[in-house]
Amino acid sequence: MRGRPPAPSVAFRPAMDADWPRVAGLLRAQRLPLDGARAWSPRFWLAEGPDGLEGCVGTEAYGDAVLLRSLAVRSEARGRGVAVHLCLLALAQAAAEGRRTAYLLTATAADFFPRLGFAAVDRSSLPETLWASEELRGACPETAVAMAAHLSQPLLWARRAGCGDVGAITRIYNQGIEDRLATLETRAYTPAEMAARLEGRDGRHPLIVAVRDGAVEGWASLNPFSPREAYRHVADLSVYVGREHRGRGVGTFLLNDLAGRARRLGYHKLVLTAFPFNAAAMALYARAGFRTVGVLHEQGMLDGRWVDTVMMERLL
Ligand SMILES: CC(C)(COP(=O)(O)OP(=O)(O)OC[C@H]1O[C@@H](n2cnc3c(N)ncnc32)[C@H](O)[C@@H]1OP(=O)(O)O)[C@@H](O)C(=O)NCCC(=O)NCCS
Repeated sequence: MRGRPPAPSVAFRPAMDADWPRVAGLLRAQRLPLDGARAWSPRFWLAEGPDGLEGCVGTEAYGDAVLLRSLAVRSEARGRGVAVHLCLLALAQAAAEGRRTAYLLTATAADFFPRLGFAAVDRSSLPETLWASEELRGACPETAVAMAAHLSQPLLWARRAGCGDVGAITRIYNQGIEDRLATLETRAYTPAEMAARLEGRDGRHPLIVAVRDGAVEGWASLNPFSPREAYRHVADLSVYVGREHRGRGVGTFLLNDLAGRARRLGYHKLVLTAFPFNAAAMALYARAGFRTVGVLHEQGMLDGRWVDTVMMERLL
């Protein structure tokens, strides 16, 4: 299990006019477009470290929509949560202003943004007003993926689980066991047992948590499918949402993020096992692009009754 390493020396703040030359320098160094960036620079957020500017992100505002742009983190400062924190600040600002949807175009980080609620959309679905953006008009249509996120207050976002999440993960999993809708496990876990299980996970098998306002609403994980080398491109998937948070898109959000992470980890396929009578889960998986491979009849015995399980797969 791996928590995010703390970066206490990084300070986050809104940009000021005098910051522009350093922001432009960072964007140039990361080969990101400067089109229109100067005009929108009062809406930029910056991360300042002991060695200077570590990262930036900005938004352009168009009515009830914003365009998230110019996300860049200096190479030496990456992997410490700077980009995620910058985006959370920019998106929280947009939500507080009453904006309802955030859009972006990316040629390099389409698998990064699902952790912030973004999903790929057709370019033609972008609102007309957004096309006033110089950045949007200048983007390469062949390589840039359009993405959109619904803005809620507070925002739902995902991160890898840390030690502090064990209690919430155990509680949510035990609800899944009690419900008899999601797993053939029948005995509740203690937090210590769950911590031991999480401790055994390696980098190819992340467990992520969906967090809103500091509380974990659900979790999902990539699990080993088989130890055999030939199966290294296949991962098994689990997803659990807390009872009080079900039916509000948390499962879809987690599956979207997990698929991006799986692609980045080199997986070719995700598989899962579900109960055919769990209508909510079956609908969720179908929406997320999973297809039924087959039914395993009388595969498990739950409370003295045989249950069937459904095998599903999604090629990434
Ligand atoms: C993309 C970028 C902003 C990420 O910055 P960062 O500070 O390293 O990101 P964070 O530390 O907040 O997040 C790291 C996580 O994002 C993932 N990630 C980083 N870059 C990614 C990418 N290009 N695609 C998908 N995931 C990515 C990491 O694997 C890590 O995942 P983990 O937490 O599960 O381990 C940075 O790599 C960058 O500046 N790249 C060049 C400019 C760019 O491509 N900007 C985006 C323009 S749309």
